[in-house]
Amino acid sequence: MEAKSKSTVNTEQTIDHSSQSLWEQIKEDWIVHQKDWTKPGFRAVAVQRFGVWRMKIEPKLLRAPFSIIYRFLYRYVRNIYGIDLPYTVQLGRRVIIEHQSCIIIHGNSVIGDDCIIRQGVTLGNRYINAPLDAPKLGKRVNVGAGVKILGKVIIGDEVNIGANAVVLSDIEKGQTAVGIPAKIIKSKSTVN
Ligand SMILES: CC(C)(COP(=O)(O)OP(=O)(O)OC[C@H]1O[C@@H](n2cnc3c(N)ncnc32)[C@H](O)[C@@H]1OP(=O)(O)O)[C@@H](O)C(=O)NCCC(=O)NCCS
Repeated sequence: MEAKSKSTVNTEQTIDHSSQSLWEQIKEDWIVHQKDWTKPGFRAVAVQRFGVWRMKIEPKLLRAPFSIIYRFLYRYVRNIYGIDLPYTVQLGRRVIIEHQSCIIIHGNSVIGDDCIIRQGVTLGNRYINAPLDAPKLGKRVNVGAGVKILGKVIIGDEVNIGANAVVLSDIEKGQTAVGIPAKIIKSKSTVN
């Protein structure tokens, strides 16, 4: 069975952290990263949260020193850990970045609560002439190592994507997809 080309996947996903302080967000990120503050994945998420948080500081002049710190940390995470996670990504709560290296997340991507992203994952645009297109992931999406999700595709809640798959089409809630291009398989086990 092919992944869907015409979407019936729910897109009504909103990422809203207004009920949480920066500290509360980072604390729960730390807990889901096994309380290990040295993990590159935890650090990447914490820097991203800080990047979002500092954008609320007004006036802009007061924000400037925080922006300088953010840009330094963002570049450190990208260049040293190989995790490119800009603050413009809509990042849900408790997202886990397991391991590091070659993780590229398009700035327009949406990643729902409790998703897992692994090493070698790209969420990016598919065509060079559609540079702003980016994937939307629902909640609790389990993204295997080396997965590429390309273009304006929508991945439903609780989807499992097998290691090294290339996803070019929407995937309905709860499905498991593997291969290049990714196709839906009948799951023999529940992974999440
Ligand atoms: C897809 C996955 C989630 C397993 O899902 P599942 O529903 O339990 O699938 P199964 O293991 O029962 O396999 C079902 C079929 O898909 C195939 N398959 C499983 N994973 C696959 C993958 N990544 N690529 C291609 N085919 C795959 C199996 O060989 C099997 O094929 P068969 O029916 O012809 O024998 C898992 O294999 C996977 O890829 N997880 C990613 C985990 C990861 O990235 N780990 C790295 C940690 S650092």
